Amino acid sequence: MNARILRIAAAVGLIGAVALPGLVYVHGDVVPQAVDTTGLEKLGDKWRDSNPYRSNQRAIEIGSSAFNQNCARCHGLGAVSGGIAPDLRYLEKGDAGDEWFKERVINGSIRNGVTYMPAFGEALGQEALWSIRSWLETVHEE
Ligand code: HEC
Repeated sequence: MNARILRIAAAVGLIGAVALPGLVYVHGDVVPQAVDTTGLEKLGDKWRDSNPYRSNQRAIEIGSSAFNQNCARCHGLGAVSGGIAPDLRYLEKGDAGDEWFKERVINGSIRNGVTYMPAFGEALGQEALWSIRSWLETVHEE
């Protein structure tokens, strides 16, 4: 085997060792961390279609810590992804990004019976999740 193939084999081995446990073992064992949303307007049970807290300073503060507790293990600290899950800094800004964000956090992502991302809608509630979205927009990259 030449050096190039060895390097590729090593890289593939590494991805298998690092990324797969992150994806496969999450099934059922991600415990959502409660988020204190004191100080934010309550939104009720019906999900909004766009972020009611956009640019709200209190929401951004809450969202920053809620993200690190609930999302960073897959999406990376500060939303800088290490490659296991999409880099959320690139999520579209504004209403279009809100729509996709809402769809994913409510439903998670399950493909072929494997949980790639657990659902968070009921566990965290929309106040906490829209706070996370508010914070994400502050670290957005084009
Ligand atoms: C166990 C790992 C894991 C955790 C925890 C997790 N995610 Fe995800 N997330 C993923 C993966 C993997 C995908 C890609 C899913 C796919 O491609 O089907 C994803 C996709 C997304 C997307 C869509 C991104 C895109 O570009 O399509 C959003 C938005 C998102 N996650 C938000 C969150 C938020 C907010 C949290 C915390 C409340 C969170 N995720 C927690 C693994 C995770």
